Amino acid sequence: MLVEVRDEAGNMVNDASGGERLHEVSMVVNGVHRSAAVPARRLLSDFLRHDLGLTGTHVGCEHGVCGACTVLLGGRPIRACLQFAVMHDGAEITTVEGCARQDGELGTVQQAFRDCHGLQCGFCTPGFVTTITAYLEENPSPTEEEAREAIAGNLCRCTGYQNIVASVLRAAELRATEPRTMEPRTSEPGTTVLRAAGEAEVSP
Ligand code: FES
Ligand code: FES
Repeated sequence: MLVEVRDEAGNMVNDASGGERLHEVSMVVNGVHRSAAVPARRLLSDFLRHDLGLTGTHVGCEHGVCGACTVLLGGRPIRACLQFAVMHDGAEITTVEGCARQDGELGTVQQAFRDCHGLQCGFCTPGFVTTITAYLEENPSPTEEEAREAIAGNLCRCTGYQNIVASVLRAAELRATEPRTMEPRTSEPGTTVLRAAGEAEVSP
């Protein structure tokens, strides 16, 4: 935990690391305004996990290869381990926690993983869930080959991928049967987003 104090110029600094300057970073994360004072070097993945307590975002390789840290920035997947939190002040981020339904039940992609046994240890799963959630917004009815291509940027050491491909197809199937409604965003009054009833918001 950072100890926040001010230097003579009034800047927030981290007393525990010899006066390192802190920056106030605010984001809408899973539809909720969140903020924390962090050093400029704080990775987005660490910001989400350590400063905001959203530990669903996993960190594997920490250099952009495995995809475990994938979150959605304005609905598009990014590697949170390759970004600094300060780069995204004011941004709208969706983590795997935001892929659940608002009532806490499993979201569509999560349910598909459960149905198809798409995970074993589960370490890679948050990155797959966010990646697939964004992909199905672009391509709601992928072929098996397209599903395989959609997850090509994420690594899994357990499953052999077959059941993850099946999960993509199952998620598309579930999604097609869900009522899609225009509902107001909670974070940005006046704008609307298309989503399944009851499902947490993912920005287009
Ligand atoms: S932890 Fe970010 S890509 Fe592996
Ligand atoms: S389920 Fe273990 S790494 Fe993918």
